[in-house]
Amino acid sequence: MTLEHRPGDTGDPRSWPRAGPSVTFFTLCANAFSQPDIVVSTIALFPPILESTMSAGSLIPPHGGTLVNRIVSEADAAALREEAATLPKIELSAKQACDLEMIAIGAFSPLTGFVGKADFESICKDMRLANGTVFPIPVTLAVCDDVKGTLSEGGRAALYHSDGTLMAVMDVAEIYTHDRDIEMPGVFRTTDEAHPGVKAVMDEGNWLVGGDIHVITVTPEHEPGEQFTEYRLTPAQTRAAFEEKGWSTVAAFQTRNPIHRAHEYLCKCATEICDGLLIHPLVGETKPGDIPADVRMKCYETIIENYFVPEYTMLSVMPAAMRYAGPREAVLHALVRQNYGVSHFIVGRDHAGVGDYYGTYDAQEIFNDLNEGDLAVTPLKFEHAAWSNKAQGMVSAKTFPKIKGDQIFLSGTKVRELLSQGERPPAEFSRPEVADVLIEWATAAEPVAS
Ligand code: ADX
Repeated sequence: MTLEHRPGDTGDPRSWPRAGPSVTFFTLCANAFSQPDIVVSTIALFPPILESTMSAGSLIPPHGGTLVNRIVSEADAAALREEAATLPKIELSAKQACDLEMIAIGAFSPLTGFVGKADFESICKDMRLANGTVFPIPVTLAVCDDVKGTLSEGGRAALYHSDGTLMAVMDVAEIYTHDRDIEMPGVFRTTDEAHPGVKAVMDEGNWLVGGDIHVITVTPEHEPGEQFTEYRLTPAQTRAAFEEKGWSTVAAFQTRNPIHRAHEYLCKCATEICDGLLIHPLVGETKPGDIPADVRMKCYETIIENYFVPEYTMLSVMPAAMRYAGPREAVLHALVRQNYGVSHFIVGRDHAGVGDYYGTYDAQEIFNDLNEGDLAVTPLKFEHAAWSNKAQGMVSAKTFPKIKGDQIFLSGTKVRELLSQGERPPAEFSRPEVADVLIEWATAAEPVAS
């Protein structure tokens, strides 16, 4: 095999054709993989290995059995670009662009496109695709009346990023009514528009377009924003990295917040029982008020450098949009991580929740409703953890008796207040190095919340 520069190679690993070098290539690079930080950057710097080579390994199978790849070859992309000029246009919202990437790279396997009516209804009502495979949140392409008028079933449409980049061509298999009355209670357990996920659905168009996608690129050309290219590994690439490291059991940690001591505790408990840990922050669309992904990434890098063991820790990003759907989203987060090759998935208190829409452990209990074999990934359920002064360590109600006033709890509002005044929260709550990253952001002239 060769490592020639390919025509059209943007330097972004996601733009490389899937037919890459064989496993031998990674064996040749084995020495470079002795440090996980090098693994991340090395994998990102070289083309991904063939997905088919990974099924032979000991890693967990992808959800539904096949790791999807909807990114077309350069030759097909050129033909699609020509065709797109003749097709009706759909401009993707930020959430839809995230979903497009998640489908394209196989993170939403077995989905090969935006869902059709039968899957939409079955997901909303029963948390399953129409064929019975568990899938908890409908990945839909909503359009307004005007756009709907330009489309026809059986035709195709060109999907554009809001910055004007042509991302994909879609088979318009079905156009159907966006039935929010089954989506909101089914997925979010509420119809309250103050819920950010519900609000996002309410703001979407009245029509849903279902069909397979043929993806030219997942990277906007004109306004790419922060891509975290070095860390933006596809499921095929994380699987390759795990295999190179000899990890067959991997615990993943989902987060959309800066990492604090309770997060660290969960991660370390999980690392104790697995071969390695994947810190896997969500960096797609989040609600206003959440801390921007670039600031969070600095926090993750800082804590790994100072408090984790590199040989057992890997950092990569997940480009999904946040739905704040609590229990349903916990199942989605778990199955997506299964696609990334992860065997164990951390679910703590109020996972993916917002406000008080969900009970503290609803996102754990929902896994009890699944049947044996529905998911291959194992949820690692954690009680609410906090620092105990008496124990002088992180504890939960399962590991240390409750003593009034013993544990250190800080509300998000209190933490924000401290940070914006340039003050570190207590070291029992946040590592000082992480607090300093956040103080720098919070005290900058105009901190930008995403
Ligand atoms: S989430 O939206 O991604 O769930 P967050 O980044 O705050 O939000 O949480 C990441 C993970 O850590 C989730 O599994 C969450 O349940 C868990 N978690 C957060 N804080 C605690 C805590 N104090 N105790 C136990 N689990 C926690």
